[in-house]
Amino acid sequence: MPSDRVSSVPSAHDATMRGKFITLEGIDGAGKSSHVRWLGDFLRAHGGHNVLLTREPGGTPLGEKLRASLLSEAMHPETEALLMFAVRREHVAAVIAPALAQGVWVVCDRFSDASFAYQGGGKGVDRRRLQALENWVHGEGASQSCTPDLTLLFDVPCEVARQRIVLAGRPLDRFEQEDAQFHDRVRHAYLDQARRHPERFHVVNGELSLAEVRAKLVHILADLT
Ligand code: TYD
Repeated sequence: MPSDRVSSVPSAHDATMRGKFITLEGIDGAGKSSHVRWLGDFLRAHGGHNVLLTREPGGTPLGEKLRASLLSEAMHPETEALLMFAVRREHVAAVIAPALAQGVWVVCDRFSDASFAYQGGGKGVDRRRLQALENWVHGEGASQSCTPDLTLLFDVPCEVARQRIVLAGRPLDRFEQEDAQFHDRVRHAYLDQARRHPERFHVVNGELSLAEVRAKLVHILADLT
């Protein structure tokens, strides 16, 4: 990922043709990444939509380079927040907004809610600063805004997520190396985001089996008209 990027900017906007923007969130080990590709295939097969799968931090050549630094180099929490939103600005401008305007449905593995959860909840960056950055980067106006139409929050207890990460046996990035208290704060900040934005959040129990989670997703997606 990102697998199928859209790069050309359409010449005209047609609000009725605008694609939907779906984001997936959750603490490390919550299982969201197992569902991204499936979600794309489902939307193509059952909705007949053109679908773009992408991720953050990353999603553009510049963003993928910065991702490597963000996941490995120590930095001030506010530097981290600014870089996350800088990567996002590029991603929105070069990939997400043009795709949505072309009627493409965009499925993004993490987006701005991750900054509220990790940099805000996890590292204590002031929520008002994050909010200012989000307002800047998301853009304004119903047909222009890049606020997600649907956010799927995969929620699991931190111990369950930790066990999955350990079982996977791969090297841990800088965020995955944080302690249990950090991940607990991130989890609760995500749940707080869900309470603040009930119109777009669906909290999915990530402890259910793959088949059970997918049945729930089918149900949730049916409401996305
Ligand atoms: P992740 O989706 O976990 O990548 P992978 O599944 O390949 O390990 O994302 C990488 C990390 O980036 C994750 O630990 C959370 C962190 N992150 C933030 O701290 N803030 C953000 O705004 C974003 C988008 C991600």
